[in-house]
Amino acid sequence: MNPPSDQELIERWRGQPAPLLPLLHAFHDRDGYLSEAALRQVGLALRIPLADLYGTVTFYHHFSRTPGGKSRTRVCDGPICKLHGCDRLMAELGGEPMACSGRCDEPVAVLRGDQVLVGTQASALASHPSLLPPPNPGGLEECCFAHIRESGRATLAGYRRSGGYAAIERCLAGSTPAQLLDLVEHSGLAGRGGAGFPTARKWRAVAAASGAPKTVVCNADEGEPGCFKDRALLDHDPHALIEGMLLAAFATGATRGFIYLRYEYPDTQAILERAIEEARAARLLGAGILGAKFDFELYVRRGAGAYICGEETSLLNSLEGKHPFPRNRPPYPVTHGFEDRPTAVNNVETLVSVPPIVARGAAWYAALGRPGHKGTKIISLSGDVLRPGNYEVPIGFPLRELLHVWAGGPRAGRKIQAVTMAGLSGGFLAGEDLEVTLDEPCLRTKKSFLGAGGVMVFDDSRDMLEVARQAMSFFAHESCGKCFPCRIGTQRLTERLSGEAGPADLQSWETEVHDIGSTMMATSACGLGTAAPAITESLLRYFPERVRARFDAVKR
Ligand SMILES: Cc1cc2nc3c(=O)[nH]c(=O)nc-3n(C[C@H](O)[C@H](O)[C@H](O)COP(=O)(O)O)c2cc1C
Ligand code: SF4
Repeated sequence: MNPPSDQELIERWRGQPAPLLPLLHAFHDRDGYLSEAALRQVGLALRIPLADLYGTVTFYHHFSRTPGGKSRTRVCDGPICKLHGCDRLMAELGGEPMACSGRCDEPVAVLRGDQVLVGTQASALASHPSLLPPPNPGGLEECCFAHIRESGRATLAGYRRSGGYAAIERCLAGSTPAQLLDLVEHSGLAGRGGAGFPTARKWRAVAAASGAPKTVVCNADEGEPGCFKDRALLDHDPHALIEGMLLAAFATGATRGFIYLRYEYPDTQAILERAIEEARAARLLGAGILGAKFDFELYVRRGAGAYICGEETSLLNSLEGKHPFPRNRPPYPVTHGFEDRPTAVNNVETLVSVPPIVARGAAWYAALGRPGHKGTKIISLSGDVLRPGNYEVPIGFPLRELLHVWAGGPRAGRKIQAVTMAGLSGGFLAGEDLEVTLDEPCLRTKKSFLGAGGVMVFDDSRDMLEVARQAMSFFAHESCGKCFPCRIGTQRLTERLSGEAGPADLQSWETEVHDIGSTMMATSACGLGTAAPAITESLLRYFPERVRARFDAVKR
């Protein structure tokens, strides 16, 4: 069959919601790169000035502007793939580096066109479905993972076998949006994407806002290094997400939804599209869902590689075809979100938690947490432990028990030196602070936070200064550049951690590093710039002797 013509591609997407990304992907897939001519066609079709379009396209890491660029080999050089020899593999393959691609449970990840491969040697790279969460070793009750290991779970029949879609059926048969909002509020569910905002409060604000159509956006960008839980949920339980989005739409009055999926999960896109087709065929999506007066259309939109697009307002700009800078707030997405209309942006895990809460009750969910806490959290655990993987733990669970009992502890003869929290955004914990429990109040006392739940483990063979330098270099690379404290600060901190620049005496060096960090925390426009200094601050707190040793070694 002949490849589609330019005009066919344009006609396929013109008039569709959020058309820019899929249209660019259509040209990118067909030609293997984005040519000048393709950009001109897209700009004309969507009425985007060429200069703006050029700026937007080149912002994303994965849109190639040179022939053959799409199929070039990219090798993950995230913190965990670094531990597993990604630099050697990259040299063997002649590949280019890409930021953490969410496969930390089986490093090293390689992307070649739309094929995802994993392995540590060029001769032994394999392509296979993402790993299921390891069995819950504590025998504790789970919410999101309760049925995920059942065979066929990703199909409609498999999902229905364990009561799938009964929650939305029940709501449509007799509940009101207000009752659903009360239920979610009583469950204590809070956002699992990073900021921990109470879900019911967000949904109430969307429900109360004027303006239509309203939108639910699932944030499946999962760009935080060390986080890979959303991929497991999407790959193995896509109908749970669809049902979660239907419930969010019922509660808020939304009639359309988007799943914004990170570029690095091409297999997941196919899984989601299959599940959406199945749901549509069963009248679970579209107009008049299950015969009720309830309409909801759902679309998948694939990102193109940019960590900042996980920030909800960047994500909305990206969906709208604008340059994906974060927006100034207020106004917030709940009143002025997608196309300036009321929008609920929620993380995958947040949405997947809702169907079991409706099915089993708010009190059931709340009681899954340890005393004083409500519910569960998925922790993506990776690095120097024997059994890395996604573990759903009660909120308030001891970190030490997760590391040493559930995940088997470090390799023989090694000790755990440090972990990161919230992927990289929560900085390091080490020493006595490894005794924390996994909940926000406890972690805040250690100047950290749980965030999206990525925990990367480093044993005592690792150089934490080098880990910190790589982390800061990631933030510098991903800083969108909109505000200068972050744009300049992440660069300056990377240079200081590399020993390339800074005052000649240690005390002045430390003072300067603190100054840069506190300015970034106080004045950056979004969470990337306010979180990045946690890396330097925690390095100085836990590893001052390592900093001194490097300092002494660098000739100035
Ligand atoms: C730099 C940055 C990256 C982010 N990346 C993600 C992400 O990949 N996935 C996500 O759900 N939230 C991410 N967030 C948080 C979102 O802005 C937002 O709080 C979240 O999607 C809201 O959903 P929730 O309330 O269900 O957690 C990010 C925030 C920042 C500042
Ligand atoms: S803090 Fe950084 S990532 Fe956020 S808007 Fe400013 S420059 Fe961009």
